[in-house]
Amino acid sequence: MVDFEKIKEELRSLLSSVKTSKELQEIRSKYLGSKGVIKELLKKIKEIPQEERREFGKKVNQLKEFAEQLFKEKEEEIKKVELEEKLKKEWIDLTVPPPKVLGSLHPITITLERIVEIFKSMGFEVEEGPEIELEEYNFDMLNIPKEHPARDMQDTFYVNKPGYLLRTHTSPVQIRTMLKKKPPIQIIAPGKVYRRDDDPTHSPMFHQVEGLVVNEYANFRHMKYVIEEFLRKFFETDMPVRFRTSYFPFTEPSAEVDIGCVICKQEGCRVCKHTGWLEVMGCGMVHPQVLENCGIDTEFYQGFAFGMGVERLAMLLFGIDNIKLFYENDLRFLKQFF
Ligand code: PHE
Repeated sequence: MVDFEKIKEELRSLLSSVKTSKELQEIRSKYLGSKGVIKELLKKIKEIPQEERREFGKKVNQLKEFAEQLFKEKEEEIKKVELEEKLKKEWIDLTVPPPKVLGSLHPITITLERIVEIFKSMGFEVEEGPEIELEEYNFDMLNIPKEHPARDMQDTFYVNKPGYLLRTHTSPVQIRTMLKKKPPIQIIAPGKVYRRDDDPTHSPMFHQVEGLVVNEYANFRHMKYVIEEFLRKFFETDMPVRFRTSYFPFTEPSAEVDIGCVICKQEGCRVCKHTGWLEVMGCGMVHPQVLENCGIDTEFYQGFAFGMGVERLAMLLFGIDNIKLFYENDLRFLKQFF
């Protein structure tokens, strides 16, 4: 006698603990496979005596249907669980912000960030000003008189709004900062500037970083230390630095800063025009007139300022000999700065 109910019970309890399609497959072949329990029962039908055969056959078929149905249900259940697990594992969070930069940074951006980081580490704050600037801030208040050659149409881009121009340097940010804040002031001002200039080392648009320190004790030696420290951090070498007397209407005394040529190590090369020196920035003690123009009492306060060209520093840092390469967006050039 075959106990069909017992077989059903066994199958049911076997399947209840099954977790994977692989396990299910194994049990399926044990019951429904070509050598499985049910196939064997079907084969047995012909051995059963005539009068019981019909009933037996019916029961085997019922069992087969029962088993098939059970497997089908279990299969669906497992598939659902497996799909859920897969979704959990391969889940992509579309709300996660992308990495900060998808691509590479422009060499000018890299250089600007490098400059800003060094000055931040020295306690400077960052200020910004507009590129379309008041003529008054770009020139007058910086002690650049009306007849000064820097105001010549040759150098400056004027806009059709009277009293405005494209700033020719970042120095107007000195004025904006002093009008807005009281000393102590210790800022840098990075940004774009514009001049009517165009050759392999000059571009009509370029970047500068301005520095301004105003407090009760700022002096030339502080300035010299800050600039030397910056240059050595920037170029990561202890090259010679020289301060050469110069003139700017808004500083007195004024100087130009030269560094020992980082290309030829002062042996003499095309970049330093065989002098061994490279000019990298202008600087000086803020002219008392400029401080007074901004309402700062020169009885108590003095300051120093400096301004550098970012393209120039980037060219020296990366060994680039034509400023135009920065603006052509040639991927063969840009891809070298990952
Ligand atoms: N503004 C000057 C220039 O563009 C640089 C400078 C800045 C000089 C601050 C002295 C002090 O050439």
